[in-house]
Amino acid sequence: MRMYDIILKKRRGFELTREEIEFFIHGYTAADIPDYQAAAFLMAVFFQGLTPRETADLTLAMAASGDQADLSAVPGRKVDKHSTGGVGDKTTLVLVPLVAAAGVPVAKMSGRGLGHTGGTVDKLESVPGFKVDLSPDDFVAQVRAVGAAVVAQSGNLVPADKKLYALRDVTATVDSIPLIASSVMSKKIAAGGDAIVLDVKAGSGAFMRSAEDAFTLARAMVDIGRLAGRDTVALVTGMDQPLGRSVGNALEVREAIDTLAGRGPADLKELCLALGGQMLTLAGAAPTPEAGSGQLAALLADGRALAKFRDMIAAQGGDPRVIDEPDRLPRAARQETVPSGAAGHVTAIQAEAVGRAAMLLGAGRRTREDRIDHAVGIVLHKKTGDRVEAGEPLATLHVNRTEELDTARRAVQGAYTIGRVLPAQSPLVLGVVG
Ligand code: URA
Repeated sequence: MRMYDIILKKRRGFELTREEIEFFIHGYTAADIPDYQAAAFLMAVFFQGLTPRETADLTLAMAASGDQADLSAVPGRKVDKHSTGGVGDKTTLVLVPLVAAAGVPVAKMSGRGLGHTGGTVDKLESVPGFKVDLSPDDFVAQVRAVGAAVVAQSGNLVPADKKLYALRDVTATVDSIPLIASSVMSKKIAAGGDAIVLDVKAGSGAFMRSAEDAFTLARAMVDIGRLAGRDTVALVTGMDQPLGRSVGNALEVREAIDTLAGRGPADLKELCLALGGQMLTLAGAAPTPEAGSGQLAALLADGRALAKFRDMIAAQGGDPRVIDEPDRLPRAARQETVPSGAAGHVTAIQAEAVGRAAMLLGAGRRTREDRIDHAVGIVLHKKTGDRVEAGEPLATLHVNRTEELDTARRAVQGAYTIGRVLPAQSPLVLGVVG
């Protein structure tokens, strides 16, 4: 088999065999196939697309390119969850203990943040002492003992995706639906869950700007899950404004604690209950997603979800006192408010601009090597639909370094659109693909 022939076949729009796709992934991971041929292949895929079968074969070949988690020692059906990423998205921090409190074990591998989107692992590391690098045995042992664990992805999880993603980044082939779908799902499949709930974001802070593209991506990922033997359901959800009110690592942990204590922002609670209801259903612990959401709401109300988060933090070496005393989380030296320039209703908040402002303050990474400041970030006082007076605070910036403070302040102010007319509220959950 020759890579040249595979590139030509795809360039001409023909369907590749599983053997040809595996030849490419094995050869590229082993560095037998050079970057220039892989780049040509990616561009051919970009223009010609992949059939659902080809996409599933690509995903499985990628998933098998490195470590694969073995969760068989954890009893019951393990349900994983993935978000395509947004601003202020701390749902994993809430969902893992919440679903575990319902008796469904959650073994979660998460990533770090890059650019305007945050990462769960960074957020958890703002809890003093919290360890995200558990050995595979300790990870499984903790899930068996506590019902919940969140660890950093192993360095050798889907090496094919690491190489391909870096190449896509420099060859203008990132925004291809089959390539995104196979990239995401290869990591989910290697992470070992029996079933997967996906949160596919649509809007100004998301990878997919339009709902139509988000539904197409959701369909592609659900098809891969089905062909790979993993029950998969996707919710397409709005990311036209940040989720909840806090953006930044320790600030988001604080908001997750509030949500687990039943006093979090309504949109975050709604999303966690919707995703969690699907997780319980796929795990066989609820007859319908609606019934599952009801079970979870009760666990938020009676304190059991919060208690599970405390247990998980303690098991991973973190200081569990942050649950009752959140001031033990890192706190920034200064707080600066961002006033509204006009009176009216908030008609839009550009989520990406808020995410970038938080990154400028030090909450996120511009490059993979950047160090982040867990204490800093942004708390939004006004969300879409809220009434605001001129001079009233729109947001508070939590600041340690002042170099880019003015730029961040302008970015947050510019992220808000204030209009005269109250905007129509679009639903948070735009649809379910299953
Ligand atoms: N996230 C991923 O993991 N892969 C992509 O290709 C895009 C977003």
